[in-house]
Order: sequence, then C-alpha cells, then structure tokens
Amino acid sequence: MFPIITVILNVATGAVLWFGGQRVDAELVDVGGLTAFLQYLLQILAAVMMGTFMAMMLPRSLVCARRITGVLSHEPSITPPKDTVTPTTNSGTVEFRNVSFSYAGADAPVLEDISFTATPGTTTAIIGSTGSGKTTMVNLLMRFYDIDSGRILIDGHDTAHMPRTALRSQVGMVLQDAVLFEGTIMDNIRYGRLDATDDEVIAAAKATYVDRFVHSLPEGYDTVIDQDGGAISAGERQLITIARAFLAQPALLILDEATSSVDTRTEVLVQEAMNALRAERTSFVIAHRLSTIRDADLILVMENGGIVEQGSHEELLRAQGAYWCLHQSQFNKA
Ligand SMILES: Nc1ncnc2c1ncn2[C@@H]1O[C@H](COP(=O)(O)OP(=O)(O)OP(=O)(O)O)[C@@H](O)[C@H]1O
Ligand SMILES: [Mg+2]
Repeated sequence: MFPIITVILNVATGAVLWFGGQRVDAELVDVGGLTAFLQYLLQILAAVMMGTFMAMMLPRSLVCARRITGVLSHEPSITPPKDTVTPTTNSGTVEFRNVSFSYAGADAPVLEDISFTATPGTTTAIIGSTGSGKTTMVNLLMRFYDIDSGRILIDGHDTAHMPRTALRSQVGMVLQDAVLFEGTIMDNIRYGRLDATDDEVIAAAKATYVDRFVHSLPEGYDTVIDQDGGAISAGERQLITIARAFLAQPALLILDEATSSVDTRTEVLVQEAMNALRAERTSFVIAHRLSTIRDADLILVMENGGIVEQGSHEELLRAQGAYWCLHQSQFNKA
C-alpha cells in the first residue's frame, strides 16, 4: 500500500504544480491561492494515508489478539486434583508403582511399567543411555505431565491428588540445562528461597563453590547475567543453579546431570557439598559418569524406557549385568 500511496502523493503534487503554474501564468489564480490549494490537498492525502495504515494494522492486531486470548484461555494439560491432600509428613518416601507414560502425539511409550521405592534420606541414582527416559521420569515426579497408568506416591499420597504448588515447593531440582534469569547473581541464587537474607545466599554460594568465581568478577554478586548467559561459563551457570537448590533446602532433591559441565576437580568438591545436603533428604541423581553415583543407596539402570536392573553398586557389580558392562567400559578405558 505504502509505495502506491507515495507515488499518488508525488504525482498529484506534480500535477497541481504543473497545471496550477500555467494558471498562475495566465493570471487566473495567484501564487497564494495555489499554495493554499496544495496544502489542502496534502492534508487530505495524509488522512488517506492514515486510513490505509490502519487498514494494514487491523489484521495484524487481530492476529495478536487471537494469540493473547489463546494463551489466556489455555487449559492446563494436567487435570487439577479433585480431592486434594496436602502432604503433611516430610519424611520423603517416593514410590513409583507400575508407571507408564508416553508424550502426547508419540505412539511408543517413553516409560513402561516403572516400579521402585526410594526410602527417606536415601539417594537414588538413575543411569542409562541417552534418550532412555531419565529426565522424563523426574518430570513425572514433578508432575509436569499426567501419567498414563500407575501411581506415583510421596509419603503414601498419590501426587495426582496433591496441589501442584504444594508438590513443587517440596522438591528442589537442578535441571540438565541450567535456567538462569536476567538479573544479578545474587537474585538468581535467591530464587531458590525468596525470603533468604544476603548472608544465607552467600553461605549457599560458598558451599557450592559459586563464591570462588564470583570473587574474580569485577562486580561480584551484582554481576548481571543476561538470558543467554553471557559473562559466565556453562559450568558456572550450573554451579549457580546448584547453589539455588542448596539455599532452598527442599524435602526432595533432584539432580539431573547437575555437574556435567563442571570440571572433574570442582565436581568432586561440589559433590562433597551435595553429600552434606543429601544426608537428611531423599534425592535423585542422574549422571553419566559412574564415579558420581557409586555411593548411591539404590541404582536404577534404564534402557529403552524400562528399568533393567536395580540395586546397590556392589549388588549390581556382582550380578554382572548391564551395570557391570557400563562399569567395565568406563573404567577400563580410563
Ligand atoms: N517433550 C517431549 N515430547 C515428546 N517426546 C519427548 C519429549 N521429551 C523427551 N521426549 C522423548 O522421550 C525420550 C526420553 O527422553 P529423556 O529426556 O527422558 O531422555 P534422557 O534419558 O533424560 O536422556 P539424556 O541422557 O540425553 O538426558 C526420548 O526419546 C525423547 O525423544
Ligand atoms: Mg536427560
């Protein structure tokens, strides 16, 4: 529309000047009359331009409005619980009973008939090849998706009957991809527990070795992190999310490849800090490096959406099954 309008505008101005000029020559109009005429014409054309501009914006705005109402009227994919139980005891038993799950639209189930029990205060390690469903399992525990069949129980209560906020407030998660917000390092750590004081934040940072690299930054804890995480490294991002979970002191702790981007020496140090944190709470650790999960009380070996083996490190080694093979391949190479 705009190019056409601009051409019309210029042609019209030219035509008025051309014919108007001849009339001025013939002394039919004076120069003032011609100028006034031209001004009126330009005002009318400006109004026409505004009109076409609005006609152009209208369909665009309609599309935007449709998107906004789409978001506002979005139904949650999780059915809200009817009879809610608020988890009272915080001992932290987690039980999966014959859980099966498939992502919407996928034909093959991602998880099939998963059953295990994590007793309070113990660490459960989940290992298995890429795409075997480890992250999916912890997503289900957090109730990001509804399961197809089976039950997930925390302290004997079905998570399907718990309000999501109550459930999630009990769980601390360090995700495979570290999510940081635009803001200072201090704010990002404090996100774990919003009412924490500066001293508590710094104590959590010290315990998780965030403090060490923060001191090398010119602005320290006030360093602003942008969303794509410029300014700090991938490992440092992970350490910040660990500090966040450390600060939250949740009843349940989930670490999904929490230290995969951190160098091995720092990993050992962070591991020690996490051991202290894990001591009195039920925790889940997902890791590819077997050295990080050796001490777990229960090891689940996943393959193609099922648990093929479970037991402690010694038991699984003795069984000489899938875990033993993995162990051999990682440690013989090293
Ligand atoms: N949002 C999703 N929608 C559909 N399919 C998904 C979705 N997320 C994961 N999947 C599929 O589910 C399977 C299991 O994925 P999951 O993320 O649980 O693997 P993983 O065991 O955590 O792997 P990794 O070791 O790489 O972290 C994969 O085959 C993946 O393609
Ligand atoms: Mg994963």
